[in-house]
Amino acid sequence: MGFMDWGMKNRLSRILKPQTGRTVMLAVDHGYFLGPTSRLENLEATIRPLLPYADSLMLTRGALRTSVDAGADVPIVLRVSGGTSIVGPNLADEGITTSFEEAIRLNVAAVALSVFIGSEHEHQTLLSLADLVNEGETFGIPVLAVTAVGKELEKRDARYLALACRIAAEIGAHIVKTYYCEGFEKVVEGCPVPVVIAGGPKLESELDALQLAYDAISRGAAGVDMGRNIWQSDFPVPMIRAVREIVHNNVKPDEAHDLFVDLKEAAKK
Ligand code: R5P
Repeated sequence: MGFMDWGMKNRLSRILKPQTGRTVMLAVDHGYFLGPTSRLENLEATIRPLLPYADSLMLTRGALRTSVDAGADVPIVLRVSGGTSIVGPNLADEGITTSFEEAIRLNVAAVALSVFIGSEHEHQTLLSLADLVNEGETFGIPVLAVTAVGKELEKRDARYLALACRIAAEIGAHIVKTYYCEGFEKVVEGCPVPVVIAGGPKLESELDALQLAYDAISRGAAGVDMGRNIWQSDFPVPMIRAVREIVHNNVKPDEAHDLFVDLKEAAKK
């Protein structure tokens, strides 16, 4: 981070905790193209109990203004891309929905957008990333690029994701969010900025999601930007606390799962 200005470094260290260099980002931006996703229908109710355990909150400005207390002490990663929907013709056809002025007004720690590499909208989404980085460098605000694949889930292999992450970093993204995959260490190796993983659709069990977080961290991820595998669990607070143990304390999945079970039992009482 030696090349960075103080404000940029400071905002990044609000997200990637200096004690561990890692982060547990809580993703609640799904509604921007999925509408009222299951368990995210009432954003405020879902977010509130999780806030004390999130190193940052990733969401849109509409979600932020309506559903998060302005007194909350949590760094905001503002999603500023969109313009598509799950029922529309093409999820990759995104543009920038939120100005930089608005991001500054909302006192964000970073802005985030999706890039759709290999899609017919590759060029427009990469130029949007370039524009955001240019503005981000002007104002000292980091940019997180999400290497999105839309409905083409088969693209989630190491060769494609390494290509996508590297391109995002070369254009100037300060953090890249991608998917975990077999050979994930190659993705991290080829990307000169921190890589965090999305959790993806809810897995069969909490243990599976904890294993995913562990595999990503032990192969070089700087953290998770996880949504559904936390708040679609019947016990979201125990789940995020278990994920934190893996990310910040290098705990093994079984041990983190034991903690999840203990906290879940305590929550039932
Ligand atoms: C999706 O495009 C959003 O950017 C989500 O923030 C991202 O997929 C992470 O959430 P989840 O862990 O539910 O996949």
